[in-house]
Amino acid sequence: MRNAIEVVNVSKFFGKIKAVDNISFTVQEGEIFGFLGPNGAGKTTTMRMLTGLIKPDTGQIRIFGLDIIRSPLKAKQLMGILPEMSNAYIDLSAWDNLMLVGGLYGVPRRVREERGERLLKQFKLFDRRNQLVKGFSKGMKQRLLVCMALIHDPILLLLDEPTSGLDVESTILIRNILRELNEKGVTVFITTHNMEEAGKLCGRVAIVNHGRILVTDTVENVKNKTERFKILEVVFDRVADFTELASLAVNGEFNVFDERVRLVVEDVDAALNRVVDYARNNSIRIISLNTLTPSLEDAFIKLTGS
Ligand SMILES: Nc1ncnc2c1ncn2[C@@H]1O[C@H](COP(=O)(O)OP(=O)(O)OP(=O)(O)O)[C@@H](O)[C@H]1O
Ligand SMILES: [Mg+2]
Repeated sequence: MRNAIEVVNVSKFFGKIKAVDNISFTVQEGEIFGFLGPNGAGKTTTMRMLTGLIKPDTGQIRIFGLDIIRSPLKAKQLMGILPEMSNAYIDLSAWDNLMLVGGLYGVPRRVREERGERLLKQFKLFDRRNQLVKGFSKGMKQRLLVCMALIHDPILLLLDEPTSGLDVESTILIRNILRELNEKGVTVFITTHNMEEAGKLCGRVAIVNHGRILVTDTVENVKNKTERFKILEVVFDRVADFTELASLAVNGEFNVFDERVRLVVEDVDAALNRVVDYARNNSIRIISLNTLTPSLEDAFIKLTGS
């Protein structure tokens, strides 16, 4: 397998802000790789460097072995890009936008017409192809932008939050198409702040915060890292002083919402016994007891501390 993306010690400053802080990672051909982090983590800045829009201050980026600074045109021919800000021409129709972009990539007319028709059908936009984009909903626009990113048949797709703000239908449509493309061999790099999306789509993720990569691993492993912990949720019949229970919690992760107590515990059995004792000693009744396995989201919150 070739390396689709190689990032080595890349940093980017904006004045005093270190938007990207010495990151390194590799995406192999055939992966769906997620770049996952909260607002301001440096996802878009990384994406803009990967796609050659801005230059890193330090480090190297290679796309299928091509240095993005030294061979930008060759590298860009291999990439389909969905930037963070949409950029379809609103005074052109969907069809004309698609043909224009295809032309810019040097796709011969017959090929781009065939491909354009197939893509618009796939993205359920074919019936609206002659309508001006200014009449499109956000979801339709985003679907068109993904079509535009695919018109030159790229082998690497880079998408900056492709489903952010879209409804369930558009989200599922885009997600399914990304999976299909990937099955046909297209490598996918996607940024997202959405845990659920990363979990559903990605094989591996890099979790980023404040410009740094905290962990790069499979979604499963990221989950497993926190899976030896369980979340214990107890609902009592009334509000009381629950501070005594805090000592059960792993690294002080203890939350009280009125008569509900939530703790992160390692030994569930021992914790349950203590909770039952506590209730008996204080003449409080337990209404319900629940143990939950931390989600990828919990893992994320733990790792980023946000
Ligand atoms: N052109 C710029 N000029 C100055 N600062 C910038 C610029 N672009 C990004 N930054 C700063 O770099 C940091 C990372 O921003 P970036 O847009 O990469 O984050 P992000 O992870 O994409 O966030 P979001 O989820 O909100 O899209 C932020 O502190 C941001 O303010
Ligand atoms: Mg962004």
